[in-house]
Amino acid sequence: RRIALLGAPIDMGASQRGTLMGPAALRTAGLATLLDSLGFDVDEYGDLSVAEIADLTDTPPDKANHYREIQRWTRALSSRGYEIARTGAIPIFLGGDHSLSMGSVNAMARHWQERGRKLFVLWLDAHADYNTPETTITANMHGMSAAFLCGEPGLDGLLGGEPRASIDPGQLELFGTRSIDKLEKDLVQARRIRVADMRQMDEFGVGVLIRRLIERVKENDGVLHVSFDVDFLDPCVAPGVGTTVPGGATYREAHLIMELLHDSGLVGSVDIVELNPFLDERGRTARTAVELIGSLFGQQIVDRPTPSNAIG
Ligand code: ARG
Ligand code: MN
Ligand code: MN
Ligand code: MN
Repeated sequence: RRIALLGAPIDMGASQRGTLMGPAALRTAGLATLLDSLGFDVDEYGDLSVAEIADLTDTPPDKANHYREIQRWTRALSSRGYEIARTGAIPIFLGGDHSLSMGSVNAMARHWQERGRKLFVLWLDAHADYNTPETTITANMHGMSAAFLCGEPGLDGLLGGEPRASIDPGQLELFGTRSIDKLEKDLVQARRIRVADMRQMDEFGVGVLIRRLIERVKENDGVLHVSFDVDFLDPCVAPGVGTTVPGGATYREAHLIMELLHDSGLVGSVDIVELNPFLDERGRTARTAVELIGSLFGQQIVDRPTPSNAIG
């Protein structure tokens, strides 16, 4: 079983600078060593660079900050991610702000589409990231990635010649949502996107909600991509984020989610995004993120066997 690590030091999708240090912080917190200790072979692809990539000439949308730069990242991540997926390893994309998912998830959706399997996307995030250049208030592209992936119009030139592999809105589940803009909410509701918001987490507990998702993925013979925005966590456990929102997931809720996802054997790829080491407190958030990835890949207190259906 193999895991591939690819860094995407990108921060132009957000308004706060600093998430470009995320991949380095996650590595410093011991991500590769931990995965190795869990029995994985770790393919280290280093950090992607877009410095040499030529710009395209399509007209940038009115409200999409740093469109050119994000376009370079999206194209590069989509093609590199797709190549890596084809090696059979489980890719972990180390961000970087959440705009990187436009490339990483597009790559994975394309990969699984070709294998006749549906990619389901679990969006662990305080935010919905379901804005378009039309609906956005901030013009920050990290707030548009989920919408782009579901095929919403407005960023149609973003991939250039890279194939676009949109997912159906029914294949997305927003989880931990507690901050959503007015027009963004209208769009999420119009598309009937599943939203496990904080109210549902409090009322039913994360165990019930995650098991429900796992059942749905299984029924559809799907594969799961986990897009983990660290602002999903409560700011008390994860202060190293530019867009903290109070009332987030606790340390224990987050670990339980990761453990249940591990036991499902359905996780085929992961993003870890929005970690901003410049805002962190002595590496706490980076360390917590790495511990959670440990639970996602089989770190447990009392050993349970790795499921035989496991991907990778
Ligand atoms: N909804 C806000 C926006 O569109 C916040 C998005 C925050 N996204 C994130 N990836 N942290 O700008
Ligand atoms: Mn090894
Ligand atoms: Mn996000
Ligand atoms: Mn967020």
